[in-house]
Amino acid sequence: MPKLSKTEKIILELISSDPFISQAKIAAKLKLARSTIAVQITQLIDKGQLIGRGYILPKSQKITCIGGIAFNRKYLLSTSPLLGTSNPAKSTRSYGGVIRNIAENMARMDIDVCLISIIGNDESGKELRTQMHNLGVDTSQILISNDSPTAEYIAVFDDKNELVMGIASMDILDQISPKCIENSWQSIRSSDWVVLDCNLPKETIKKILELKKNANFMLAIDTVSVSKAKRLPDDLSQIDILFTNKAEAISFLNLNKNSKTHKLNKITTQLRNKGAKGVVLTDGANGHIVNIGSEVFTSPAISKNVKNVSGAGDAFVAGFISKIHSGASVREASNIGAALSALTVESQMDVRQDLSNKVLDEYLSKEEIIKEN
Ligand SMILES: Nc1ncnc2c1ncn2[C@@H]1O[C@H](COP(=O)(O)OP(=O)(O)OP(=O)(O)O)[C@@H](O)[C@H]1O
Ligand SMILES: [Mg+2]
Repeated sequence: MPKLSKTEKIILELISSDPFISQAKIAAKLKLARSTIAVQITQLIDKGQLIGRGYILPKSQKITCIGGIAFNRKYLLSTSPLLGTSNPAKSTRSYGGVIRNIAENMARMDIDVCLISIIGNDESGKELRTQMHNLGVDTSQILISNDSPTAEYIAVFDDKNELVMGIASMDILDQISPKCIENSWQSIRSSDWVVLDCNLPKETIKKILELKKNANFMLAIDTVSVSKAKRLPDDLSQIDILFTNKAEAISFLNLNKNSKTHKLNKITTQLRNKGAKGVVLTDGANGHIVNIGSEVFTSPAISKNVKNVSGAGDAFVAGFISKIHSGASVREASNIGAALSALTVESQMDVRQDLSNKVLDEYLSKEEIIKEN
């Protein structure tokens, strides 16, 4: 960054928080003549800190991810489950939360990511935050609650690996209030893309969509689950890309969930009719359908070697948004989304731990070889 005078710095700050501020207003605030402000603004343009007369700030390349962080614990019982007594089990722990998974995938692909969420004042929270920080994620906007523990998801599987019970202790996420969004708004609005998950409270999602009307970033939302999809407002017009799976879309649209005749293209059209500028609907092993702007196409799932399907959708969103953010076409973004979810279902973890751009490139070239054969 070139050297700026104290006055130039203050003017830049005023313009960043209100890009439409008049020279007269800046002059009044700084107790300087309007002509002096005009000269200072010309200097800021010369120094590349403002692009043109509209006071357009240089575009940030940052992607801000806002939503849920959770600590996952899985227990595999050694015998059939017995209620009311102690059951011996093997345990594994991992880091989760849809937006955290998306942010981790992006960070592993060298994207500049800022994560906004909440943790408790406890060891699991600190561990989750440190892991993201060590991956290069900006964790400065992660809130700490003093009255709730970090969100946890606990899954108990029987000796045949069938889920006996899932326990979601996620009340803390309700503390990501509209006020928290207002407090972080300067950081959020300077992003290139903002990605939300529906772990956020309904009124917080509403607030972001409202504030977005006066911002320049692009917005994507992941619906997370059948129940949380209902947190979306009826008007989807502030959403650039909505990522959802079939069951979540059916839930949001209040369609008959028992009907077997819902067609993916009809569902995406209904979501577009609610105002979304783009929709990507994933359907597990059946692949996905894209309906963005005037582009509508379906694409098959890539992987035949599935080990663990959980996290596939999160990886898809990360791959798709990372690619489109770098200027790629919708088709390319769709291919990368599918490739990253294929890499993820082929690993035991919800986020592939060896993920890098190199691993992704190698996987893509292997896929090319398969297609050519
Ligand atoms: N069983 C599978 N076989 C092959 N590919 C799969 C399978 N499950 C998922 N995928 C890939 O991952 C993409 C996203 O999966 P899915 O529709 O299950 O997302 P999701 O329901 O949001 O998953 P999650 O919430 O667990 O991350 C699919 O479009 C597909 O490319
Ligand atoms: Mg999902």
